[in-house]
Amino acid sequence: MSSNPALTEQLQFVARSLPWLPTHSAYCFGVSQLNQWANAYYVLDAPMVEDDHYDALYQMVLATEENHPDWVLPESPTQRVGDEPLTTFQTVEHPQPLLSLENAFNQTELQTWENRLLKLSNGMETLGYVAEMKLDGLALSLIYEKGVLVRAATRGNGKMGEDVTANVKTIRSIPLKIPVNPTTETPPVPDWLEVRAEVLIPFKRFESINTERLANNEPLFANPRNAAAGTLRQLDAKIVANRKLEAYCFAATNLGVLEGTQLHFDDTELGTPFPETLWQLQSALTAWGFNVNPVRKLCDSLDEAWAFITQQESARESLPFATDGVVVKVNNLALYKQVGNTAKAPRWAMAYKYSPEEAETTLEAIEFNVGRTGAITPVAIMQPVILAGSTVSRASLHNVGLMQEKGVQLRDVVLVRKAAEIIPEVMQVQVEKRPIDAERIALPTFCPSCQTELVAKVEEDRIVNLVCPNSLGCPAQLQTRLEHWVGKKCLDIDGLGEATLDQLLQASLVLSPADLYRLTPEQLLGLEGFAEKSAQKTVEAIQVSLQQSPIRVLHALGISSVGIETATVLLETFGSIDRLKEAKMEALQTVYGVGSIVAQAVVDYFAKPETQALLADLSSVGFDFSKQAQLLSHSDNAPLLGNVYVLTGTLESMTRDEAGEKLKALGAKITNSVSKNTTALIAGEGGGSKLQKAEKLSIPVLDEAELMSLLAQDNIDKRLTV
Ligand code: IVH
Repeated sequence: MSSNPALTEQLQFVARSLPWLPTHSAYCFGVSQLNQWANAYYVLDAPMVEDDHYDALYQMVLATEENHPDWVLPESPTQRVGDEPLTTFQTVEHPQPLLSLENAFNQTELQTWENRLLKLSNGMETLGYVAEMKLDGLALSLIYEKGVLVRAATRGNGKMGEDVTANVKTIRSIPLKIPVNPTTETPPVPDWLEVRAEVLIPFKRFESINTERLANNEPLFANPRNAAAGTLRQLDAKIVANRKLEAYCFAATNLGVLEGTQLHFDDTELGTPFPETLWQLQSALTAWGFNVNPVRKLCDSLDEAWAFITQQESARESLPFATDGVVVKVNNLALYKQVGNTAKAPRWAMAYKYSPEEAETTLEAIEFNVGRTGAITPVAIMQPVILAGSTVSRASLHNVGLMQEKGVQLRDVVLVRKAAEIIPEVMQVQVEKRPIDAERIALPTFCPSCQTELVAKVEEDRIVNLVCPNSLGCPAQLQTRLEHWVGKKCLDIDGLGEATLDQLLQASLVLSPADLYRLTPEQLLGLEGFAEKSAQKTVEAIQVSLQQSPIRVLHALGISSVGIETATVLLETFGSIDRLKEAKMEALQTVYGVGSIVAQAVVDYFAKPETQALLADLSSVGFDFSKQAQLLSHSDNAPLLGNVYVLTGTLESMTRDEAGEKLKALGAKITNSVSKNTTALIAGEGGGSKLQKAEKLSIPVLDEAELMSLLAQDNIDKRLTV
């Protein structure tokens, strides 16, 4: 680090001279040296000296300033934290308004924007762009006069903001003075320069701030952005310094020239030559000592910018700070004036917004549905919102117990969440936003489908579930049971969609799964949407499904808590459905992954007379419940049996699903979230919060190469074919 002999010599010179001979020039040299080291540390991420070197020189500078208060330079690192807290922030006017950005949510909207630009920039056939991450923080305007930071202000209403200079000075990566760089490549610094930056708090820092607040019984910050906003509005700069804000710059304007003490707007562009492109400007900012937005790309076309957008969609998960989109900006600065601004946003930039996985919306109604097992499922009907790329207006509340626990009321503002491929669910009620006309939701007394009186399941004096007891006759239950039966992970029968099943029920042609196997092509022909060929094919598909694996059949029976995974382990142990039918609680509970709840559900299911009738009926149409689930091989222990993995990020050689299947084939279990029971997290490119969680719980993290060596183990286990 400090192996540079010239540097050490300089330092020794300063060290020797300062205490005894605190000349003004030695002091000035000390300050600029400290700033150079700080820049190397905080901005370039390439420390030049050890911390104690820095501290020693800092102490000398501080001592000198105490003896010579009149020497203190504004850019001295001692000036980063002021002594006295402020009593209020001054409102200040921005030299040019801080505009907002227009948003695009898809490629078409971006294209429309480019088309408009092409018209406005008349003649320009191709436009180059800079695409960069949109940082989810707060906008800052930094003003430098003759290279010295004189004012930092928040956005405010765009025209007027608050003077937060004292707070912003605590941000180590913001230069108090733009260093005079001796290299000729460094562009000259304009007399009057405005730099635009985004202030934020990285996730890790945010978490430790909240941990500390929790310990001190202080209210927690909702997210890093709120934490940054709260910090920037602190009157005591010492607190701000502690929170360690960060700032990333993305643009600058040459505001004008200084003549004597008079500043002039540089409308004539006669002053200091300024870079011609945004990309060059950003390089200049780096050379001037600023921390420039680190994730960005110079693009020759909008297609290239689009590629960057799609690539960053998952990659951004592993960034240390929050981002909510990509800003695409015209690279040629000369075009900025030509295309101009709308009332609120520049025309030369567009923010592409990633669709959030979580959003707030209003609850308009609750629909009570009847599930396969007769349990009532409340479904929230909401004002449509865009979530994870699609419009969502319905979300599950799972069961009436959970609905009451969440305390939702009609017209409440609710937070909904949708992760890829998962049914949207209502996460919580934003109680503080509850409208005065919110209305309690009454629980139904009768089944919405068959009007049978509902049975309440009560635990500890609270209703946890409402169930329709009419399991054989309730049309809604029959319909969902049939839908489940023909589904992809069950008997996988093509040609029987929701609408067809509905017609079959209405016509009383099918009342149980067994009835499907008695259907004739003629009967189907009588339904809407069937022709001779399709009726024939559907009947064939139904008959072929008799040969499906017993695991699928067991899953299709719809025992509560028995999904395809559990069905697999159950038949792995008991061989056939006939044998499973006879299994006792104790035997069931010895199965890996089967606890008392599942064991009880299995015992209860097979004990019901309806089940016995159904199984007999299914046998009569051709099902063989003595059929053994097929073994893949006969080795006694699968190599990964008992191991639980979580997958995150993008793998290069296969999709996460494929990796999951391969691990499962080796006996491992795959779950969605990291917990203390996780054996290891397998992380591809761009894994995000799961990585942090694994780190917190000290769960090992495996990369793709390590995954490969896991998978290279002998694929001999006693897994079954599903
Ligand atoms: S360019 C008109 N680039 O987003 C101002 N803005 O919604 C041109 N922001 O006020 C802004 N990251 O605070 C730009 N890479 C980025 C950004 C970015 C975050 C903020 C900025 C602006 C707001 C507009």
